[in-house]
Amino acid sequence: MEVKSVGVLGCGLMGSGIAQVSAQSGYSTIVLEVSPEALQAGQKRIDQFLSAGVAKGKVRAEEKQAALSRLSFTTDFKSLAGCDLVVEAVVEDLAVKKETYARLDRIVKQESIFASNTSSLSITEMAAATHRPGRFVGLHFFNPVPLMKLVEVTRTIQTEPGVVEAVTSFARALGKTPIQTSDRTGFIVNRLLVPYILDAIRALEEGAGSITDIDQGMKLGCGYPMGPFTLLDLVGIDTTYFIANIMFDEFRERRFSPPPLMKRMVLAGFHGRKSGKGFYDYSVEPPRPNDFLAAR
Ligand code: CAA
Ligand code: NAD
Repeated sequence: MEVKSVGVLGCGLMGSGIAQVSAQSGYSTIVLEVSPEALQAGQKRIDQFLSAGVAKGKVRAEEKQAALSRLSFTTDFKSLAGCDLVVEAVVEDLAVKKETYARLDRIVKQESIFASNTSSLSITEMAAATHRPGRFVGLHFFNPVPLMKLVEVTRTIQTEPGVVEAVTSFARALGKTPIQTSDRTGFIVNRLLVPYILDAIRALEEGAGSITDIDQGMKLGCGYPMGPFTLLDLVGIDTTYFIANIMFDEFRERRFSPPPLMKRMVLAGFHGRKSGKGFYDYSVEPPRPNDFLAAR
């Protein structure tokens, strides 16, 4: 099945990036959010990313306009009825995703493909909320979507081969490099990345070093593009906390368990860059590390 029109559910950090690259690659793309305010915030994020691309000479002004003209925004599920492919990027919460898929399944044409951008939930479990488990896959993009080249394509034991081919071609058309994974919690990348970033928080809690020194250590000592706390702030402390809980629940191994500081940061609204505060305070330039653990 050839994908021509794309629906994107959720226009947060990931949904906005997925919608952007889909529209930039020539697909008519419709984005659904829960409220006009959330839609407006997502639309603004796309506009800003494209404008920054133009300013950096990476995106032509006409390309930006063409991408924006292919995008439409809605809060009405019915508007997605005719999409060939729906990519879901709503919050990492199984109950919310299952409810969303059950609703979507009643509206979107039966031959359409559903693809979840989940970081850690079971694709099989979400597919079970629909009547189309054969047309359900994982399509895991990386943050920031317009800049990161990888997409993990996850097939379940029920996914039809033609569906895997269709989403793999879609990922390639977006300029991404697809890799295949099985429906194992965390797939390939988060299986390796999540224990590392959680361990950085444990190292901080244990007093191994400061936020700045741990970040510098991994950047300059290992050549990582950013340190673990800068990365946690980029991904979202809330989202990483949900992912860690899901992975711990699945594997019952300490390396996936969220450290106590992380839970407290989520409860206190320190969600990272998107909330203006996380391991760093983004109200100042350059962002200043939040020295939570220092004696006061
Ligand atoms: N539009 C187009 N191009 C842009 C752009 C924009 N708005 N902004 C930047 N770019 C381009 C730059 O021009 C530059 O291009 P060249 O390499 O050709 O010069 C390139 O993108 C890199 O940009 P910068 O130089 O501004 O920034 P950087 O070198 O610091 O890289 C980064 C930024 C790519 C995000 C890099 O820091 C990085 O790779 N960080 C790690 C991110 C990561 O690990 N993501 C995965 C998170 S985990 C996940 O997503 C899975 C999950 O389930 C949680
Ligand atoms: P986010 O909090 O930035 O955005 C989630 C968006 O979903 C919000 O704007 C919210 O209003 C919207 N939403 C909630 N319920 C909805 C519904 N029923 N219908 C439509 N929209 C709804 O989260 P995010 O970081 O974009 O993560 C989204 C998904 O992508 C999660 O499954 C996450 O695990 C995955 N993911 C995140 C990252 C990352 O680095 N943040 C990377 C890869 C995958």
